[in-house]
Amino acid sequence: METIDIHSHFLPEPWPDLATRFGSPDWPWLKRLDHDRGMLMLGEREYRPVYSACWDISKRLEEMDRDGVHHQIMCVTPLLFAYQRTSSEAEDCARLFNDVALEMCAQSNGRISALAQVPLQDIDASCREIERAIAQGHLGVQIGNHVADRDLDDEGLITFLQHCASIDAPVLVHPWDMLGRERMDRYMMQWLVAMPAETQLSILYLILSGAFERLPESLRICFAHGGGSFVFLLGRVDNAWRQRDIVREQCPSVPSSYVSRFSVDSAVFDEAALRLLIDVMGEDRVMFGTDYPFPLGEQKMGALVRSAKSISHDEKSKILGLNLSLIHISEPTRRTPISYAVFCLK
Ligand code: CO
Repeated sequence: METIDIHSHFLPEPWPDLATRFGSPDWPWLKRLDHDRGMLMLGEREYRPVYSACWDISKRLEEMDRDGVHHQIMCVTPLLFAYQRTSSEAEDCARLFNDVALEMCAQSNGRISALAQVPLQDIDASCREIERAIAQGHLGVQIGNHVADRDLDDEGLITFLQHCASIDAPVLVHPWDMLGRERMDRYMMQWLVAMPAETQLSILYLILSGAFERLPESLRICFAHGGGSFVFLLGRVDNAWRQRDIVREQCPSVPSSYVSRFSVDSAVFDEAALRLLIDVMGEDRVMFGTDYPFPLGEQKMGALVRSAKSISHDEKSKILGLNLSLIHISEPTRRTPISYAVFCLK
């Protein structure tokens, strides 16, 4: 089955020296430990152990072949969004990493493509950069699920989403800058608890604020990690919408009716969870995603979907690739695939 991974990450090598470039500390950087291993650093702090698949395209292709992945869409780690910096620094940072992403894609014989990043604290600059990036060969854009206290129902962020729809750029929403940090500094609780909550929060803001009523149906927007806690708790939200006017006052239709407006990736690591995801979202709106090559990603890419006994052959082929089948991935001469990924078919 055609297998396209829509959620993977890269780190460039060589890494631009951001602290020197911007004259301020605490930028992310890559500390190489040996040929195969490195440590993603945040200033002087160790952030995450990483290995060469992050920066070495031949290693990445080798592991894609090992696991039967035909095409991969990669984006930066959200650590590089720089939404908390000045907008000119974030725009400069976005351009740097967007350009290097395409250089890496160009080494992949058409098998890897990229999503751009934008300086989301500045909507005009974000619209500029996504247009530039798409023209250069990016498939779409990855955004963080919020900018400080501005969530996806913020007027500026809605304007950006409308712009993406108008230029037909798919959007992948990735959780980052997790809430409750002071209470979740042990056992990776920020990743285990706050990250799925962040994604659920973003989807609910789009639904309950009525934002989906104002966004065009042509917007193709996908949420990472199976939409976080959203699917499992959707019944609770529907019940609250029916029982409390403060929940439904800006949302004219029952919340579960809005699942047709977005899609999610399949990175849930459990067959029963994946079954529920397909049942709630519909088989056309779940797409294979791994979070490769980070430690919390699927270690054998595709194993969950392929081995799931409760998922039919047709469902598997849709999730693994058909839902994204408009990407032309078979032309080896093309530097990057043709620029329309279908993040939401309907
Ligand atoms: Co990720």
